[in-house]
Amino acid sequence: MGLERYKSMLQKCFYPVLFASLQAMAATPAELLAGYTAQSGQPANSAKGEMFFKANHGQEWQCTSCHGKSPLVGGRHASTDKPIEPLAPAANPKRFSDSAKVEKWFRRNCKDVLARECTATEKADVLAWLTTLR
Ligand code: HEC
Repeated sequence: MGLERYKSMLQKCFYPVLFASLQAMAATPAELLAGYTAQSGQPANSAKGEMFFKANHGQEWQCTSCHGKSPLVGGRHASTDKPIEPLAPAANPKRFSDSAKVEKWFRRNCKDVLARECTATEKADVLAWLTTLR
């Protein structure tokens, strides 16, 4: 097989795989919400999401300790005091656009605030609330 043909065959096989794996990471808030809602098995409830976000869950920190009282405005990290950009997609289009990032931070932050991971229902409710904010 000639080198050119080999190269073009490699490209034909490799690019779709690369593209598919990038696609798997990129997401929209609506797609992520649909995924969590499906996992949860019940419709997302934005009122419950708001209560969850603002509630004390028995630990030192709440979601608002770092993200601030309004997800449209943003906050400051409770221990490092570093500014945190708004969490609501309407105020910050970068939010909920990368499923790996969202999962990483849900895992870490839920452990801080609830001393356990969040359930799919809790994630769906919070995301439903955040996407209603304008
Ligand atoms: C101790 C501080 C802290 C607390 C408490 C906290 N967060 Fe966060 N959160 C962060 C930081 C830091 C980031 C990553 C930096 C950034 O994206 O601004 C982040 C990022 C996130 C993201 C990623 C969103 C995206 O697409 O960029 C989500 C979702 C999130 N937090 C949800 C929550 C929820 C829900 C709670 C309450 C259960 C919570 N956080 C509590 C500090 C905190």
